[in-house]
Amino acid sequence: MARVHNFSAGPAALPTSVLAEIADEMMDYRGCGMSVLEMSHRSSMYQQIIDDAEATLRRLLSIPDNYRVLFLQGGATLQFAGIPMNLMRRGRAGYVVTGNFANKAYKEAAKYGEAVLLASSEDTNFDRIPGMADINTRIAAEAAGDGLDYVYICQNNTIFGTMFHELPDCGDVPLVADVSSCFLSQPLDVERYGLIYAGAQKNAGAAGVTVVIVRDDLIAEGPAFAQTPQYMDLKTQAAKGSMLNTPNTFGIYVCGKVFRWVEQTGGLAAMAERNWAKANLLYDLLEHSELFRGTAQEDSRSIANVTFRTGDADLDAAFVAGAAEHQIQNVKGHRLVGGMRASVYNAVTMEDVQALATYMKDFEAQHSLSPRSN
Ligand SMILES: Cc1ncc(COP(=O)(O)O)c(C=O)c1O
Repeated sequence: MARVHNFSAGPAALPTSVLAEIADEMMDYRGCGMSVLEMSHRSSMYQQIIDDAEATLRRLLSIPDNYRVLFLQGGATLQFAGIPMNLMRRGRAGYVVTGNFANKAYKEAAKYGEAVLLASSEDTNFDRIPGMADINTRIAAEAAGDGLDYVYICQNNTIFGTMFHELPDCGDVPLVADVSSCFLSQPLDVERYGLIYAGAQKNAGAAGVTVVIVRDDLIAEGPAFAQTPQYMDLKTQAAKGSMLNTPNTFGIYVCGKVFRWVEQTGGLAAMAERNWAKANLLYDLLEHSELFRGTAQEDSRSIANVTFRTGDADLDAAFVAGAAEHQIQNVKGHRLVGGMRASVYNAVTMEDVQALATYMKDFEAQHSLSPRSN
């Protein structure tokens, strides 16, 4: 079996034991004579699968009873619209723009009401999270002024390799967070948020499922806009147990397996310890390198996406091309920023990261005459 060192930002590496279990169950899921792919979502067998996925996630994150857990479709992107549709009751919400996905969410929200730009790090090409004291002052002023329905952040910025290490103080205003690329990477205090959502394809399973965790009082009155499509109405989705229509049955099954794997391998605190060990191995290497440079400011570095460059686009391309010869895949930076990115999600092993670090050192030794020009 030839498995590569896969540093994809998503869809991303899955635990091999999960893949093996799925393969084992493919022809005959636990004696029912069919695969999960072929099973009715209305069957009791499938109900157990989705219930088990939810229960495991609730244990992992200690999700309080007054939060609903939904498994939806449409990716994280559909929630850029879904959030204002459901929560923008007075027509005004605050956005912190820390990258491409936060910006997309901000622009989408502006179609439904007033999207207030609370802070942005665009002036330094999103290499940092803006200062928290300023964000908090601005939130307090907006909340006391015309009011805010919610404050929105993208907690980990997959493309730029930055993350919030501290959450804003929103007072009574609900905090909404896109946690797609840091979901299950580390413990998370659900009660600090009104709504959290994550595309599953990074750390939680396969593409095609978006996990939404929402405080039930926020959706009790139904959506903020009468014309909200039924599918996007979180109150209805919660009442129907994510089965208003046919859900991504197989994707939810994969999520359930990944949740169990996280639980059985030590839970979120253990994940965080391992993830920081992997990320820090690369950050330390970058700090001491004469050739490579990390692109995120130190106090904003991501636990999951390590972004770096040489400063020379040709050398970056040579690095990416050469990586494949070492069975190292998907280290090309996002097309918006270039350079390199290694995503070190839960299923990426320390051995994978060591293989990358060795390749980086060898590449640097071979190109030692190239000055660091960035
Ligand atoms: C932080 C974040 N938000 C949103 C998205 C968009 O997700 P999707 O492709 O599932 O719509 C991504 C995709 O990479 C992401 O990293």
